[in-house]
Amino acid sequence: MNSPVLTAVAWPYANGPRHIGHVSGFGVPSDVFSRYMRMSGHRVLMVSGTDEHGTPILVQADNEGRTARETADKYTRQIGTDLAGLGLSYDLFTRTTTGNHYRVVQDLFGAMWRNGYVVSRTQLGAISPSTGRTLPDRYIEGTCPICGYDGARGDQCDNCGNQLDPADLINPKSRINGEIPEFIETEHLFVDLPAFTESLGGYLASRTDWRPNVLKFSQNLLDDLKPRAITRDLDWGVPVPLDGWRDQPMKRFYVWFDAVIGYLSASVEWARRSGDDDAWQEFWLNPEAQGYYFMGKDNIVFHSLIWPSLLLGQNGAGDKGGTPGPFGTLNLPTEVVSSEFLKMSGSKFSTSRGTVIYVHEFLDEFGPDALRYFISVAGPETQDTDFTWDEFVRRINFELANEWGNLVNRAISMAHKNGGAVPSPGLPTAADEQLKSLSRNAFDVVGGHLRRSRFKAAIGEAMRVVGAANKYISEQEPWKLKDDPARRDTVLHTALQVVQDANTLLTPFLPHAAQKVHELLGGKEVWAAQPELREVEDLDVPGRINPILTGDYAAEQARWESIPIEAGRPLDKPTPLFAKLDPKLGETGPEWAPIQQ
Ligand code: MF3
Ligand code: ZN
Repeated sequence: MNSPVLTAVAWPYANGPRHIGHVSGFGVPSDVFSRYMRMSGHRVLMVSGTDEHGTPILVQADNEGRTARETADKYTRQIGTDLAGLGLSYDLFTRTTTGNHYRVVQDLFGAMWRNGYVVSRTQLGAISPSTGRTLPDRYIEGTCPICGYDGARGDQCDNCGNQLDPADLINPKSRINGEIPEFIETEHLFVDLPAFTESLGGYLASRTDWRPNVLKFSQNLLDDLKPRAITRDLDWGVPVPLDGWRDQPMKRFYVWFDAVIGYLSASVEWARRSGDDDAWQEFWLNPEAQGYYFMGKDNIVFHSLIWPSLLLGQNGAGDKGGTPGPFGTLNLPTEVVSSEFLKMSGSKFSTSRGTVIYVHEFLDEFGPDALRYFISVAGPETQDTDFTWDEFVRRINFELANEWGNLVNRAISMAHKNGGAVPSPGLPTAADEQLKSLSRNAFDVVGGHLRRSRFKAAIGEAMRVVGAANKYISEQEPWKLKDDPARRDTVLHTALQVVQDANTLLTPFLPHAAQKVHELLGGKEVWAAQPELREVEDLDVPGRINPILTGDYAAEQARWESIPIEAGRPLDKPTPLFAKLDPKLGETGPEWAPIQQ
C-alpha cells in the first residue's frame, strides 16, 4: 500500500537567484506533495539540484566576468538559500557539477551506446561570425518553420511545442547581439528518438491519469520524433566517455542530457551519503515505487519523452531491445506534473524583461507562509496566472489571517482564559458532531486531491474546515456560556480539536505555521521538519566543497490523521500567527518591486 515515492523536482539553472515564478512552478507544489506523502506513511525521496552546465551559465558568467564554475558556485548557494527559506523539504538538493553526477551521466550514456540508441552524425552548427564561438540553439531566434511563430528558439518552438533544429529556423538571428549566425559542419551524437516511438507510445497510453494537457502535448509529438543531439561544441559540461571524444576540449554533453540524469545521480548521491550505497534502488527498481516529476510547462517534453527515452535506452527496452545497463531496470515516471506560468501583467516572469520578484526579497518581507499560501491557493496550477499585489494582499488578509489565523487565536485564547488548558468535553450535540465529522472526513478528501496534485482543490477543502469552525464558534457563542461551564468546555474542546485537525490538513502547505500552531496547542516535538543548508565535501573530488540541502524528515511527528486532543494540556496565551498586510501594498507594491504606473 505504502509504496516508496520519488519526488523529482526540476533543476533550476545556477544563473541567478530564483524569482517567485520559478518556485510556483517546480518548488511549492513538489514540497506540498512530498510532505503529504510522508505524513501519510510513504517513504519519500525528494531530489533535485542546480543545473550548472550549458549556455545559460556561460552567458551569465560572461556578463559577470567570472568563470562558469565561479558563477555556478555563487548561484547554487543563493538558490539553496532561497529554497531552504521557503521550507522545501529536499532529501538532497545537490548540483550537476559533482563527481558523482559526472560518473552517473557517463555510465547511463555508456549503456545507451552499447544498446545502440546513440548515433553519430555530422550536422550544421551555428557560430557567431563576430566572435567565432558556437552559438547555442536556445540563443538563436527566428520564425518557426512549422507554425510560423515569430519567437521560436533554435531548440524548440514554445508556440507549437515542436523540437527544432536551429538551421531550420526562418530568418535566424542571435538573441545575444542580433547578428545572423553562420552554419558550419560539426560531428555530434544523437539519441535515436524514433527508436523509442513504439515503447514511448505504449508508455504514454498507460498514463491515463496525467493532466490532459501534458498527456496530449506529449502524445502529439510522438508521430514526428527525430534523432536529437546530445552533444554540443562547448567546453563546459560533462565529457563524452568515448575514444576520440573524451579528450576533445570543445565537445561536451548537452546540458539537458546531463540535467535529467540528475534525478538518478542525486538519488545515488543521497544513498552514498546515507551510508547505504544501494538505498536509491528502493525508489528506482522496485516496480511498486512511484516517481512524480514537478516542473513548469516549458520542461514537459524533456520529462515526458526525452527522459523516458534515456531510461528505456539504459534499460535496453526501446524498440531495438538490448540489455539493462549498470543501473538495472529503472522505473519510468509515474506522472509528469507540470504547472503553467506565473505572469506579471501578462508576461512570463523573466529576468530579461525587467519585472522580477525575487524569492529572497519576498521572504525577507513576508515570510514563507504567505508565499506558500498564495502559490497553493492562487498559483498557475492549470492555467497561466497573473500575479498582482492586490490579489496577494486580499488572499493573505481575508483568508490566511482573517480565517485561519483568527480561528487559531480565538479558540486558543478562549481556552487559555478559561483555565489555561484544553478542557474536558461533555456529551456532544449534533452541531459538535457535525463539525468534527466534517474535519475527520476532510483527511480523505484533501488527501485524495493531494495525491493527484490538485493543490487548489486540496487547500480549498482544508480552508472549508476552517470556515466551518469559525462559523461554529460564532454560532455556539462560548463566551455567553458562563452559566453552563460543561457546555462551554464541550464547545471549546470541539473547537480545539478542529483547530488541531485543520492544522494537520494545512501542514503540507504551511509547515512553518503548522509548527507554531502545534506548539500553541502544547506540542513540544518537531511537527514539520525543515531543510538545512550544509557545506559538504564532494564524494569523488577531494577538497571540493558543495553546498547541499537536506533534512531529517523521518523525525517529524506530523501524521495524516485526526489525533484526539488531550484534555488537560496546558495552553499559553497565543501570539498572532500571521501579520496583516497594509492594504496600500495592493496599490503600490513593495519598494523593491514597485507597481509601475
Ligand atoms: N534548468 C532547467 C530549467 O530551468 C530545468 C532542468 S530540469 C532537469 O528550465 F531535470 F532537466 F534538470
Ligand atoms: Zn512552431
